[in-house]
Amino acid sequence: MRVFVCDIDDIEEGGVHILKFENIKIGVYRHRGAFYAYKNLCAHQGGPACEGRLMKKVVERLNADKTYIGEDFDAADPHIVCSWHGWEYRLLTGENAVNPNIRLKRYEVTQQDNKLYVEV
Ligand code: FES
Repeated sequence: MRVFVCDIDDIEEGGVHILKFENIKIGVYRHRGAFYAYKNLCAHQGGPACEGRLMKKVVERLNADKTYIGEDFDAADPHIVCSWHGWEYRLLTGENAVNPNIRLKRYEVTQQDNKLYVEV
């Protein structure tokens, strides 16, 4: 079933819109001109994952001998951070940042006439 989300311009770059449909909530994100939609349900303890912060991926910089140099941030691979206990999910795939076998439920996003829809 195709469900209307909002007008495309209602989600700013790097933003999220939480859609309520029947008994589910879906977070629809805009990142670098593309849209991603996930069920607002954390795989840890059921927290509202999509209501957490969106943060750049932290990338450790290491010497050749694996000693720590510092950290950088990768804006191309942002993470959704669940506000309850901090589990992180890759925005691009919905995979958990530590264990990619754990994922947020993903929904297909379509666009038509400057409007966004998700398939539920
Ligand atoms: S419920 Fe999301 S991190 Fe625990």
